[in-house]
Amino acid sequence: MGMGMQIISSCTQAQKSCLEVRGSGRKLALVPTMGFLHAGHESLMHWARKHSDLLVVSLFVNPAQFGPGEDLARYPRDLERDVQKAGKAGVDILFTPEAEDLYPPGYATWVEVEGLSSALCGRFRPGHFRGVATIVCKMFNLLCPHLAVFGQKDWQQLVIIRRMARDLNIPVQVVGRPTLREQDGLAMSSRNAYLSPEERKAASHVFQGLKQIREEFLAGKTGREELENLLREYYRENLPLAAVEYVRIVDAQTLEPTDPVRPGSLAVAALKLGKARLIDNILLQEGVIS
Ligand code: PAF
Repeated sequence: MGMGMQIISSCTQAQKSCLEVRGSGRKLALVPTMGFLHAGHESLMHWARKHSDLLVVSLFVNPAQFGPGEDLARYPRDLERDVQKAGKAGVDILFTPEAEDLYPPGYATWVEVEGLSSALCGRFRPGHFRGVATIVCKMFNLLCPHLAVFGQKDWQQLVIIRRMARDLNIPVQVVGRPTLREQDGLAMSSRNAYLSPEERKAASHVFQGLKQIREEFLAGKTGREELENLLREYYRENLPLAAVEYVRIVDAQTLEPTDPVRPGSLAVAALKLGKARLIDNILLQEGVIS
């Protein structure tokens, strides 16, 4: 739109503005975030900007997706910097709702995407994807986007949101975009801020290990357990500081383990490193590594 960025915290007002845009035939894109914006978010915004007439970014640290003992209280926040970055990225509406408005007393409705939500990260973060599916469904209802853009680093989240939108007949196109990486390969994430300098250096191995597995697959190894064991072994040797939560090779759509591993299967890993929980993935196929 290019008329300067509006910051809206009222749910009613945000919904009214977005409905007007949608009603006027303009194409509306949403990038949902939890703030502490980095270049990964910015690349989603740039893509969304290019493919729409009006760009809305939501900024909300959603308590419902954090489990007891997780990092809700210390999740990094910097509203002033986020406002600047969003302004520069050409955001038209920055939606900054309050938890009390989104989850008022008596709040009782939850969105559960069965099956997909209990795999992989779901096993280690019970209730997490219920919280994610619920808030994203609420954002879709509030902001009525034609398209919504998510990073592929959170591949499971993307698959779950796509299924949710399909199952609930929400008229939104869910778009996944490639992960942005630091020079040494570490996937960009707000949670990287938790890493000590030593941990940060070691963290590059999360992706280096995944790349190695991809090479092994492209060189002819197709046994899932063999490849998973090689990745575990790589992490044991190169990332002794980390505790591996899981390594898996799955079908990229169903998230079920694939045996034998096929081109287009997805290798995924989750590790705890110091105070950070790091996740990453790689598609096992020729071509550009995202
Ligand atoms: O990926 C995130 O930052 C969050 O899970 C999301 C999609 C904004 C929902 O709170």
